[in-house]
Amino acid sequence: MTTEIERTPGGAIIMNGAALRDDTVLRLRAEIESMGLGYPTVCLATVLVGDDKPSQIYVRTKHKKAAEAGMTSTHVGLAIDATQAEVEDTVRTLAADPSVHGILVQLPLPAHLDTEAVLDLVPAAKDVDGLTEASMGRLMRGRNGHVPCTPKGVMRLLERYEIPTVGKKAVVIGRSSLVGLPLAVLFARKGVDATVTLAHSRTTDLVEVCRDADIIVGAAGMARLITAAHVKPGATVIDVGVSRTESGIVGDVDFDSVQAVAGAITPMPGGTGPMTIACLLENTLEAARMLGAIPPAPATNKGR
Ligand code: GUN
Repeated sequence: MTTEIERTPGGAIIMNGAALRDDTVLRLRAEIESMGLGYPTVCLATVLVGDDKPSQIYVRTKHKKAAEAGMTSTHVGLAIDATQAEVEDTVRTLAADPSVHGILVQLPLPAHLDTEAVLDLVPAAKDVDGLTEASMGRLMRGRNGHVPCTPKGVMRLLERYEIPTVGKKAVVIGRSSLVGLPLAVLFARKGVDATVTLAHSRTTDLVEVCRDADIIVGAAGMARLITAAHVKPGATVIDVGVSRTESGIVGDVDFDSVQAVAGAITPMPGGTGPMTIACLLENTLEAARMLGAIPPAPATNKGR
């Protein structure tokens, strides 16, 4: 990464996810271009049911960044009243299409749809979101598979800023299967070796739990839940929360107060959000490899 380390007025390192995303996109593009012509283009497919504006923006950004990374993408938009059969048929068609390598079903689906039944139709190799039972099971078993994008992006940020994790105390707030649960597993993995506490909305005395932590990740979707009172001086604070409030989108971290105490902090926007997309694209390239559509990873990228 070429950019200088930036700091907040209080001296905390700003963990710049947008810059790391840009670097990742360039690296993926270089990898794809190095394969030369003649290989099938790496292709990401997205499925969006309904017309939720923020979801439309997320999906559009995913396509834009896929193009920048040298990939193609395809999108299926379905009406808000699409039937279970229509959504399932869409996913089945993409699953069977050899020109599609990664499938992302934008969540949440409208309430009348059975999300689990839809996700069950995504083959493990194409599950670039890492959300299916197969991918989650592989993560728990420590087997090769796609790791969910937001937790993977958090780990990438920690690596990039050389935040130590071995033997450190990490508190993850939020137990969603999209972020909190898989992130807790990643923290506990051999090689990462953190001691993890998985806190949530029913945790009593969250301040007490967090004040001991070397790394705090807010993934509860509770606006400005984490304040300076929660943070040990020098701790790393990562914000994954997204709450839509009257004053716009707000994270789980009260940035202004926390930056004065923390050693490193993610900005909002420009922190974990861009890394989710970077990791989606990483997973899509990996999916094409798993499917045998493109050659194995270059030696320097093994195990990344
Ligand atoms: N909605 C919000 N974040 C995500 C994500 O990472 N993946 C999917 N599929 N839907 C989301």
